[in-house]
Formats: sequence, structure tokens, C-alpha cells
Amino acid sequence: MKNKWNKRQGWLAGLSLCLSMVACTKSDQIIIDVAQEGAEVPSSLYGVFFEEITHSGDGGLYAEMVVNRGFEDGNLPSGTTYKDGYAVAKSLPCYSNDSINNFKVKWQDDKAMNGWQVVCAAGQPVYKIVDNQPLHPATPHALQLELGKSAGDIQVINNGYWNMALTEGSSYKLAFHLKADAASNEEVTVSLIDENEQPAASQSFKITKDNQWHKYEGALVSASTGNKYRLALTFKNKGNVYLDYVSLFPEETFMNRPNGMRKDVAETLADLHPAFIRWPGGCIVEGLTMENRIKWKETIGDPVTRPGEYNLWGYRSTYGFGYHEFLQFCEDVHADGMFVCNAGMSCLFRNGDFYDDNQVDGLIQEALDAIEYAIGDADTYWGKKRVENGHPAPFPLKYVEIGNENIGSRYAANYKRFYAAIKEKYPQITPICALMFSPYLKEAGPIGIIDPHYYETADWFYRNGDLYDKLPADYPYKIYVGEYAATGRSSLYSSLAEAAYLTGVERNADKVQLVSYAPLLENADGHGRNHLIVLKNDSVYGRTNYHILKMFSENRPDVNLKTQVLPAETQPVFQTQGIVGIGTCNTVAEFKDFKVTQDGKTFYSTDWNDLASAWTASQGEWKVDNGVLKQSKVEGDSYLWLNGKELGDCTIELKARKIEGREGFRIFFGSKGEEQYYMADIGSHTNESVIFGERNAAGNVSLFDYRNSTSVHTDHWYDVRVEVKGNHWKCYLDNQLEYEYTYQPVIRHYAVSGYDKATNEIVIKLVNGENTPWSASINLANVKSIQPEGTQITLGSVNPDAENSFTDPEKVVPVETKLKGLNSSFEMVCQPNSFTILRVPCER
Ligand code: AHR
Repeated sequence: MKNKWNKRQGWLAGLSLCLSMVACTKSDQIIIDVAQEGAEVPSSLYGVFFEEITHSGDGGLYAEMVVNRGFEDGNLPSGTTYKDGYAVAKSLPCYSNDSINNFKVKWQDDKAMNGWQVVCAAGQPVYKIVDNQPLHPATPHALQLELGKSAGDIQVINNGYWNMALTEGSSYKLAFHLKADAASNEEVTVSLIDENEQPAASQSFKITKDNQWHKYEGALVSASTGNKYRLALTFKNKGNVYLDYVSLFPEETFMNRPNGMRKDVAETLADLHPAFIRWPGGCIVEGLTMENRIKWKETIGDPVTRPGEYNLWGYRSTYGFGYHEFLQFCEDVHADGMFVCNAGMSCLFRNGDFYDDNQVDGLIQEALDAIEYAIGDADTYWGKKRVENGHPAPFPLKYVEIGNENIGSRYAANYKRFYAAIKEKYPQITPICALMFSPYLKEAGPIGIIDPHYYETADWFYRNGDLYDKLPADYPYKIYVGEYAATGRSSLYSSLAEAAYLTGVERNADKVQLVSYAPLLENADGHGRNHLIVLKNDSVYGRTNYHILKMFSENRPDVNLKTQVLPAETQPVFQTQGIVGIGTCNTVAEFKDFKVTQDGKTFYSTDWNDLASAWTASQGEWKVDNGVLKQSKVEGDSYLWLNGKELGDCTIELKARKIEGREGFRIFFGSKGEEQYYMADIGSHTNESVIFGERNAAGNVSLFDYRNSTSVHTDHWYDVRVEVKGNHWKCYLDNQLEYEYTYQPVIRHYAVSGYDKATNEIVIKLVNGENTPWSASINLANVKSIQPEGTQITLGSVNPDAENSFTDPEKVVPVETKLKGLNSSFEMVCQPNSFTILRVPCER
């Protein structure tokens, strides 16, 4: 593979410069040649990906404050039936391998009243959820209150999304629907109450008692501030009423859009200046089953008519932040829209069922209709609907992604059909292929952009700051990194790892044209993962990686400049040395014919008769039967170490067979034991790949750049061979080379630079992921003139574990200072654990 610039020449040029200048300094050299432009950095590069997950929308960005407002939360996921405490999907073959996943999710009966309580001043209230009085056919459920059967006043209370936050003097828009019989009381009172049941706001409504549905609307102005409020409707114990679609919104939403978004959350997103917004997912596009997938047509129009759907992240989406709201948000923040459609298959880690070719026609039409809704003329069917929904002008939809994280031939065939149909009718739309770096790309026909995702450890991201430098310049596809995130505990260390990776993305922005982090938003009370933005009902903050992404987005140059980092000291080449072993992860497997050779001679071989004396098992259940060693524990990691034989270069050979479980087998080498090892990881990433791996003090690190797509089949005896030579490792299965890797410890220093043509500035980005300062001499070659003063923006902390929080939301944020005394050569010290951007005004 060719690199963009010839590193060797660069190294020699840099070396002479270093010698002629200050050969004795310990500073690294960073040489930036303003006359040598690299890749252009498109304005499309930094975007965001929204998916309804961990209450990012409902209970997050979407400003609705009432949870389960339409009493629809008891609906089973579409395509499932209830059985013995589970919502069970149909037994259908999975699209990837025809296996029957028999997918089911736990299902409790009490979901219908999720978020609601009915209390009576005296005795038990009589109420139930019914579906025979539909407010709208798509949302048939309502709460029936047999008020006359109760001994005292009845309160119907909604808890909100982990309660409701109110601000003194602010107004909240209330709406509810009631169907009351003649015997009911004339009035209902609606209040916002605190933990002590004291009202912060209250309003009474006169009821129409004609046994028909009526909508009631009001404005509640809060007399106090707090975040523990609930909404209570108080009824007298007379008659029979049905209650449905109870809604409360802050009067002020982002851009004051109706059915709008929380201002603080939307502004936090807008501050990222996203070039594009991807919606609606993610796995949610695929669904637990095909019927459970998001159907965009159900997400538009009057929210009362939107049925919502139980999503595969464990709660029901209201579809409140629907297709129209997403497109409106794109327009409001000047982002391009990226719509994702289902490609004919549900999530393969769930039911994985799929549509046949005729049904796929329907899905293609669904995608074309979505485009028509966004950009079609007002006289088209769906364009007209957009106009009716209040938006005559077209929306800025630019991309359509066909599926999400799909694999295999079926996907490739479907993709081709979607692509052709979209391009024929809407040549201006850019389709995106959901395949990653996959062998199926060859089958998928014309492809503009592919979508690899990376959820890897921080150390993987540090190791892959140069990932796209390794991709050939003539790689046939452009790349959209649709999802990336350093997994594990969120910290400055992991955020800087993402920054290191992004320097490589930006440097290769001719190949990687779009990038978005995932997941985006997390309601902290909803117990999420490492999201970019964290919120509660009354507050929101960005984690350190949010601020880093913002810094990248706000300091995107127009074009890269040739940038060489020449370390002051060369690192010795790593030499593998340590004990060897075998093991598994969540898998039962068998092993035989184990042999280690060195210099072509057998160093050790076994038929397992010496298992007790020569080997040490540190986890797992290991037993020999008939010359075959079996590890029979299916859960967790297992290790078996060959005692006391520290080896350098060697070849490990054996036969291995998977019996059951989620992965394959592991061959260890260069190890000190289960806390520090290297391994050939055969069947990694839930049996998707053969790669190498490392365990060190920081945990597990996958060692790969481009993962292959080799899975381990059960009941097949594989000939496994691992060759270790210095720092170069190879893994073969059945004599076929599956993966090779050159290992070298990383020094976590990264630099990329570019030129901002609008401001005439060199923009230099420096990541120091080490816990020590990084000194560098920065040399700017071929500049005509330099202004003495520039700008420095730094985000960092002495503590690599530092992270923002609700109590200290600005613990680690960018700090802007003046950069003085600039010249074509200047010294720079990057603080430990920091991301620094230098803006140097200069004429070229
Ligand atoms: O970001 C969460 C999920 O991770 C996305 O839905 C999916 O695409 C990926 O597997």
C-alpha cells in the first residue's frame, strides 16, 4: 500500500534539517510544507448521527415532558406475540446464514401504565387501559376511569421522564383528550406538583359531557423552579371518562418549532455545526423483526396519529421526533439530511428475518417516497404531504443510506436494486452502502460510499491514527465512518484516542468524506453508554469527546498540508518474547496435535498426556479424552499456558474445533500470563473476524487495521498455524493466511495540519495522549510571511481520567489563548493529555 507522501524521503529531508538546526535538542520535529497540499477537506466531513437509544429522543432531544402520553406503551413489538413473559418473534430464518434465531425479549404486563399512577383519596380507584374507544385508529389505547365507582377524588399522575423540570415564570403548553359521559363532573383540574404534592401551576378545564372525544389545551406557568415535578389531573368521583394523549411541552422550544426540541439540547447539537444529520439509526432501522423496523410514514403528521413502536433499545419510541422534525432540524442548523432506510432485513443479532424480492419492491418504494416527501414538488403525492405539514420548500436531504450494518449476498443484491431505483429517479441523491470493508462489496454493483463502524478500545484508536494512510490512494470507494466510539470508561484518555484517530480521518479526507460519532445523546437517568452528550430533564453537558469533536468541526481547514512528525529518538523494534498458550472466549472448543517449532525444529509437542505437569489452566474447564483436549465452559474467557517456556520467534501449530458458543479460539504468545499477552484471536468480534489481540494494563486491545470477514464454523477441525517473527505475526487457518500484523508500541503523539483559505491561516492539530509533555519544533516551510500572533486552543488536563459531569460540566473544555512570537520555526510544548489547535496566520 502506498502512503500519500513518501515517508522515507520525508524522514531523510527532516533528518538533515534536524541536524543542521538543533541536533542536540530532544524535541520532535514537525515539518509543515505549505507549498505541498494534501487532501481537500470537504465541508461534509463532520456530522452527527441521531438514533432513538438511551432516551436520546424521547426524554432527550424531543421536548415532550409526558411519558407514555398516548397509553400505547403496552403494545408488543410489531411482529411478536406474547408467550410466558416474553415477546416472541416468528421463527424465521436469519438473512445472514438461514439459522433460526428464535428471538424473544422479556415482556412484563405492566408496561401499558408505564409512567402513570392513578390514586384515589379514599379506597381503590377503578381504571383500566382499553382499546375500544380509539382517539385515532393508529393509537387505539386510552385510560378508562370509572370515576363513579370510587369513594373519593381521583388523581391521574404522570411522572415524566424521570420527573419534569420547571423554571419559575416559564410557560408550558398542555394538551389532553377526554371523552366524558353525562354523569361526570363539569370540571377537571390539571396541576404540576412537586414531591410534596404542592402545585407549581394549576388550571381547571370545563368538560364537554357528550361522550365524544374533545381536545383541551392550556398553558401552565410555573411558580417555582426544580426538576422533581409531575403532572396531575384531578377528577371528581362522578361518571365515566376516557383519557388519552396527554402532552406537555415547554412553550419555548428550539427555534420555537411546534412539536419541537428541547432548546438546550438542540443548541448543544447545533454548536457542533454538523455538516449532516443521519436519522433514524442504527439498528433501529433494521428492527427486532422486519415488522418492528421504523416506518417513516408512521412518524409524520399529527403526533396523535403516530403509533410509535417498541424499539430494540428497550422502550417504546413515540415517533415524536419524526421524519419531518428531523428534516426541519437539518434545515434549522444548515445540515444536510441523511435518511437511512431498511434494506429488506432485520437486525441479524435479533431475529434477522428478511423480505423476499417482491416485498423488497415495497421497501424501495418506501425509500423513494421518503425522498419525494423531502424534496419532491408540491404536486407530487408525498411532496404535497410535506406542504400540508407546513413546509412548502424542499428540505435539504442529500444522502440515503441503504440499510445499517448489513452483511452478505442478500444485502448486496438488495442494495443494487435500491441504488438503481434511487439514482434513476433522484440522481442528485447520494446513496450510501451499509457494507463495511467487506468481501461482498464486489457483489454490490455501483457503490459511491461505504460505512464502516468502529466500537473499539481507546488503545485501538491510538494505534490507528494512521489507519487511512494505509488505504491505497486508488481505493475504489469513498468512506463514511458512520459510527465510532472508544469503548470502556469515558475519560480524557479515551477522548484523546478518538482525537488521534480523527487526525488520520482529516488527513485522508479525500478517502473519508463523512464521519459521525455514536451514540450521540444519553439521558443519564436512562443508564446509557459512553455518549457524546449527557442530559437530564434540566441540564445537558458535553463529554470531553464532544468538545474535541467541536474543535475539529470549528477548525476544519480547506486543504491538508504535508506534515511530517520526525521523532527525536527512534524506538527499538519490538521483539516478541514470552510463554505460549491456548484459550477461548465464550466458546466450547477442542484441541489436538499441539506443536511449537523454532528454527524448523520441534521445540515441543504433545498428545496432552502431560497436561497436568506441563500446562497450567488459569480459567475454563479443561479435560483430555482420547488425545483430544476439550475446554467445556461456554461462558467467559479460558486460558491454558505451557509452563515456563519463554519463547521469541516460533511457530505454533495445532488442530482446533469449535463445539458451541459465540466466538472461536485463541492462540497466545509473547505472554506473561492472563494479565499480559498477545494472541491470534480466531473468531473475534462475535465470530466475525480473525485478527490479533493484546491484553495489557489498560485491558484488551484488538490489533487490526482492516478486519477480515472470516468466521469459525462449528464441528470443523481447523489446521491452525501462528508464526511469530520479531514483531511480525501471521495467522493461518487450513493453510490460508488469514491475518498478519506488525506490532510496535505506540507513542501517543499525532499531528495534522491544513490551510484555511478564508482566513489565511495554517491550522495545526496536535494530540498528546501521553501523560508527559510533548516538545516539538514546528517548522513551516515555503511560507511567504507569517503574522507574529496567532491563536491557540487547548483542551487538556493533568489527569488522563478527567471527564466532565453534571457537577462539573466544564471540568475539561477548550481554552483559547493568544499565540505570540510566531515565526517560520517555533517551539511548542503540548501539555500532557491534551489536544491543541494552533491557528497561524500566514501568506503562502
Ligand atoms: O450506536 C448504537 C448501535 O451500534 C447502532 O444502532 C448500530 O448501528 C451499532 O451497532
